[in-house]
Amino acid sequence: MTKTITEAKTNFGALRETREYKNYIDGKWVRSSSGKTFENRNPADREDLVGTFQESNADDLNAAVDAADRAFQSWRLVPAPKRAEYLYAVGAALKRDKEKVAREMAREMGKVLEETRGDVQEAIDMAFLMAGEGRRLFGVTTPSELPNKFNMAVRMPIGVAGLITPWNFPIAIPAWKTMPALVCGNTVVIKPASMTPLSVTMLAELFEEVGLPKGVFNVVTGGGREVGEPMIRHPRVPIISFTGSTEVGRDVSVGCAPQFKKVHLEMGGKNIIMVMDDADLDLAVDGALWGAFGTAGQRCTASSRIVAHRKIYDAFVEKLAARTKKMRVGNPLDPKVDMGPAISASQLKTVEKYVKIGREEGATVVTGGSALTDGDYAKGFFHQPTVFGDVKPDMRIAQEEIFGPVTAVMRCDSVEEAIAIGNGVKYGLSSSIYTRDVNKAFLAMRDMYTGIFYVNAPTIGAETHLPFGGTKQTGNGHREAGVAGIDVFSEWKSIYIDYSGSLQRAQIDTEEL
Ligand code: UN1
Repeated sequence: MTKTITEAKTNFGALRETREYKNYIDGKWVRSSSGKTFENRNPADREDLVGTFQESNADDLNAAVDAADRAFQSWRLVPAPKRAEYLYAVGAALKRDKEKVAREMAREMGKVLEETRGDVQEAIDMAFLMAGEGRRLFGVTTPSELPNKFNMAVRMPIGVAGLITPWNFPIAIPAWKTMPALVCGNTVVIKPASMTPLSVTMLAELFEEVGLPKGVFNVVTGGGREVGEPMIRHPRVPIISFTGSTEVGRDVSVGCAPQFKKVHLEMGGKNIIMVMDDADLDLAVDGALWGAFGTAGQRCTASSRIVAHRKIYDAFVEKLAARTKKMRVGNPLDPKVDMGPAISASQLKTVEKYVKIGREEGATVVTGGSALTDGDYAKGFFHQPTVFGDVKPDMRIAQEEIFGPVTAVMRCDSVEEAIAIGNGVKYGLSSSIYTRDVNKAFLAMRDMYTGIFYVNAPTIGAETHLPFGGTKQTGNGHREAGVAGIDVFSEWKSIYIDYSGSLQRAQIDTEEL
């Protein structure tokens, strides 16, 4: 990759070189045919230019699909355990480079270093998990209804997988999709979020380093309209996997429908923590802080709603507010900081808009409630961690995904009411209960209609070897991660082998067997 352009000053005064990053197509680093680039700036410090990236167009996307399609012809025939060796190697390389990748990610995404390390760790976990799958990729064998006949079902790759990934988990989510896609024998064209293209570019560098055959993994940076839409419409991209907002997911689904593409969507959430009157309140507060303000609330799994039993509501809110007030907001590379900025000016505006809506709806701002704009804060998109109290379940702040450091606390009188409130939104990603009563825990576990459920833990923290995803408007019936991720990126082929030497007709009555 060429090193060009300028040197930028970071908040800590160090001079860094700023590079122009290219697309990775057919094993080569190439500029966009548009001749245009866009800037990737640090959301904690807009003076810090992380890099410039290709502002790609449909021609670039087409070139990547051509390369991926050619590579598919041979990659699909590479034995899965051999394909898995590349994943293992890339996982090991990521492990080696974890700190470097985590630091660059903190710069481009803005979550604190501890969390960007976790993001890289999720990618490592997924690489190793899927490397193991290379020696499994289990199918089914089952008896035939006829004698001297053998039945099985095997997984087959689909083709070029088009991946569209978000900015909040800049390497974990690309890995969730890439690793299962590749181990199944598909090739990949990925369009990372324009706000965080560096993390996926670094992943491509590692794939190059471990010698992944050219064309198997391709990166095209740029906008949704210019790159995402042509990908969705491309006739040689039979599967699309998307993580992002429900609004964009709907467009992706509509775009895939005319060609009946396989489409996996992972979208919004409005996840609830239910705090019962018997809960360990300090534990619940720890969970609420982590769930609501981790990644500055910019997770689809964020604990953006809390319902507390009326008997402990005041005590819980008081403890939560006290702890929230103590949180240090600032530059994510500073180890003393608990929470970084919003990703962008428009995301910050959305947070401010919802805080205003919450006030107008009659909820109480218990703590926070404002953007931070003084001093160094002015360089980025900072907002105070914010707790709303006296929230009613039908208020917009309790119904709509904000994707920022805001949580809405409601009251309930029973576990049944908590469950009804919990299920009373259009999303169904994650939910949790804090209780010491096993009966309440099991009741909620059974009745919460969400794809993920936690007991005595917040709504975030999914591990890579379990299915990840949600019900209702969070998803479209698929799950990623775990074996479910293999289901997304493979098709079933049922195979019948008749070794009787005569015509045997299934389902047709015969005199004798
Ligand atoms: C997301 O917010 O899109 O469970 C993914 C979690 C993380 C993944 C979140 N492991 O919060």
